[in-house]
Amino acid sequence: MDHATQVHLIDRVFDMIDRRTTEMDPAEYHNPVSRYIDPERYKREVEIIFRRNPIIVAHGSELPKPGDYKTMDVTGVPILLVRTQDGSVNAFVNACRHRGTKLVWEECGSHKRSFVCPYHAWTYGTDGKLVGVPAAEGFPNMKREEMGLRRLHCAERYGFVFVQVDPTAPKVDVDAWLGPMAHELEHIGTADYVVWRPAQLEKKTNWKLALDTFLENYHTRRTHTKTIWPVFLDNTAAFDRLSPHARVVLPKRSIPEIRDQDRETWNLRDHSTVLYTIFPNLMLAVLPDHCAIFQVWPDGIDNCKLPAYTLVPPKYLESATAQDIWSKSMHVVFEVTEEDSDRSEAIQAALNSGANDHFVFGRYEQALAWFHQEVEAMLNGQADWVRYAEAAE
Ligand code: FES
Ligand SMILES: [Fe+2]
Repeated sequence: MDHATQVHLIDRVFDMIDRRTTEMDPAEYHNPVSRYIDPERYKREVEIIFRRNPIIVAHGSELPKPGDYKTMDVTGVPILLVRTQDGSVNAFVNACRHRGTKLVWEECGSHKRSFVCPYHAWTYGTDGKLVGVPAAEGFPNMKREEMGLRRLHCAERYGFVFVQVDPTAPKVDVDAWLGPMAHELEHIGTADYVVWRPAQLEKKTNWKLALDTFLENYHTRRTHTKTIWPVFLDNTAAFDRLSPHARVVLPKRSIPEIRDQDRETWNLRDHSTVLYTIFPNLMLAVLPDHCAIFQVWPDGIDNCKLPAYTLVPPKYLESATAQDIWSKSMHVVFEVTEEDSDRSEAIQAALNSGANDHFVFGRYEQALAWFHQEVEAMLNGQADWVRYAEAAE
């Protein structure tokens, strides 16, 4: 973020320290438990939130050169990403247009000029066009130009690849979708980082429960007593709604050290972890010289997958010292995530017990409330679609 915003946030933190409090919403928020366990609602969450919006599915450094490709399953939809000769990324449904088998089976690869279907060898260019049909006399009435791979809306911004997985979804303007988040990503410099050491976790929780654990630091003292509580100020954070996204600044105990220093030298990143939620499912933690990414993908109503990776500056990729710092940092991040998962999996196990018909979020758990309000707005058609819609062409 820009320096003026950093100073403003640090001032807010000092104000909280002086007043021995944290930032709070005016009142608690009641979140019905049915939102985590209703199968009909879950279906709508996947269809509306995950398939119709531009969702981050990759970082551009995973496919750096023309012909590089990546495949993945996004909420049950197989997709294929490929970098084209002009440097842009194309996204397609990874299914052959002949009889629909999965076209590309490898998780990733490079130098591709075309993709050959493993079933009957129809061949597609990296632009998705159908360029080869063996024994073409069998299809005298087929119009090849109509048989290209099903293209998905795709845009690369600030290093991240956004895809709308539903091919029938109206195109969303990714810049409008990011809104104030764009400025943040630009200053973090996510476009200049590369993915390092991707990993995958799987948790027995509803996808929203997994996200809930990231959005407040009220739990840090009790849940992360030995890991990060000694590092961070207790239940103190600066919260900003960057609708539909959010920013939470978690200040470290070291932050008062800079109070008497020249404000020009204040650097928020050295004395806090800044945690962004890029709606609906990506958590970006900004750490001193790298970022930690966690993404939460629903995998059934009571299960989720969490791919995680580190974003690092490529110029230090070969440095053993840098790797050591990142490894240690990520070790803590994963340890903390396991501590959180113990809690959320235990919540999931009791969701159907009838113990709670709603959860109450405290005034300093406001980022959870905001997140659930955004989910509600999307499901109820009240999201800011006018702002997100692609400008009329
Ligand atoms: S299903 Fe792909 S060529 Fe037949
Ligand atoms: Fe936590």
